[in-house]
Amino acid sequence: MKLWEGRFEKPTAKTADEFNDSLPFDKKLWKEDITASVAHAKMLGACGIIPDDDCQKIIKGLEDIYSDIADGKLEIAGAEDVHSFMENELVRRIGDAGKKLHTARSRNDQVATDFKLYVRSAYGRLSESLKGLVLSLADCARRGLKLLLPGYTHLRKAQPMCAGHFFNAYAEMFLRDLDRAASCKKRMNIMPLGSGALAGTSYPIDRFMTAELLGFDAPCSNSLDGVSDRDFAVEFAFCASLAMAHLSRLCEDIILYTSSEFGYFEISDEYSTGSSIMPQKKNPDIPELIRGKTGRVYGHLFALLTTVKAIPLAYNKDLQEDKEGIFDAEAQTIACLDIMAELLKNITFNKRAMEKAAEGDFCCATDVADYLAKKGMPFRNAHAVTGKIVRDCLAGKRTLQSMKYEDFKGYSELFGEDICEVVKGKNCAEARVSFGGSSPSSVKQNLSSILKRVKKY
Ligand code: ARG
Repeated sequence: MKLWEGRFEKPTAKTADEFNDSLPFDKKLWKEDITASVAHAKMLGACGIIPDDDCQKIIKGLEDIYSDIADGKLEIAGAEDVHSFMENELVRRIGDAGKKLHTARSRNDQVATDFKLYVRSAYGRLSESLKGLVLSLADCARRGLKLLLPGYTHLRKAQPMCAGHFFNAYAEMFLRDLDRAASCKKRMNIMPLGSGALAGTSYPIDRFMTAELLGFDAPCSNSLDGVSDRDFAVEFAFCASLAMAHLSRLCEDIILYTSSEFGYFEISDEYSTGSSIMPQKKNPDIPELIRGKTGRVYGHLFALLTTVKAIPLAYNKDLQEDKEGIFDAEAQTIACLDIMAELLKNITFNKRAMEKAAEGDFCCATDVADYLAKKGMPFRNAHAVTGKIVRDCLAGKRTLQSMKYEDFKGYSELFGEDICEVVKGKNCAEARVSFGGSSPSSVKQNLSSILKRVKKY
């Protein structure tokens, strides 16, 4: 039965129903719909808007529906949307009392409330997965404390660093995602229920009571905004998108670093795939797929932003398009975060290749210039002298590590014998002890701060 059929002479066409219905996807909101309806019924009873025994019947009826759906005894089907389904089912079970549930309520404030309850819990699920990944990255950082890795700028080797620094950098990104999720969850926790169709209601409802029952911080202060606000969904899609952006960067680095050209890390066989034709191949399908799914999640953000663009106040049916993208953004992002956490737990490091790379390609040149500058040469001049050393080494096919003390001396009197120690990758990494820097001691400090901060969420 349609909730609104009284006004119509002819039934809707089957095709129009199929086009209009949202039940195939909004049935996912069944728990939230029942929870919100129970709170609404309690409030109607407490405010004397419906008789107490009707209120009790409604609550009992809704609770029975809840357990029947949970037990698989009741299929959610045969209605326009989840709200109509619940009301029809309630009336079928308890009769006329069920028809009173929709007093002082509209599907417009109902759907906004249900969807907010859903997104609020989705933040909890997203945060759990983000935490899992931060912990996995922190464990890699701990394993990397004694290892070296070249740091890159412009994808050209730049400076040697403690390998843990790389993993901590990603942990910092996902910690920001956690913090963003927490602040968005806080901002969205305002209740639309009681806004009615758009303008509020003439019944003496108590919106503060329903807000408290449903765990909202307060009822919304403007009913027009309340029924048409979908900022919370856009923000969720953005939180998911930025987490995917961070994942895609991590994937890109992992794909590069596990290639034979780099050879720093090795993905375990359990998280790798092969080729149907090339027997030698070991492919990084999982990071590639995560990188690919980033586009899909961004798509949901842009779809939603476009849907809410230029929507006149207040509720318009366009807003029914808000749900599927969010459901998929949540599912995809969580799946990606979880599989990445697992993959990292099983990733291994090629110590020798990492050490060799960290010292190669004149990665230690900055330390040569710093050496001269610390001995009194203006840094710009020290940079020029070191540049000349690099140029000569390139021409003579030499490395900074193969240079003798006497060779250095030819470029500046300031060089002492210790320069040959200074140009070792390990020493360069160990020297960067500044707060937030890449020395093992700084990385250790960063790691314990990460482990402390992640506990807050
Ligand atoms: N299925 C609708 C949605 O998801 C519920 C609200 C319907 N309201 C209305 N006035 N048609 O947005």
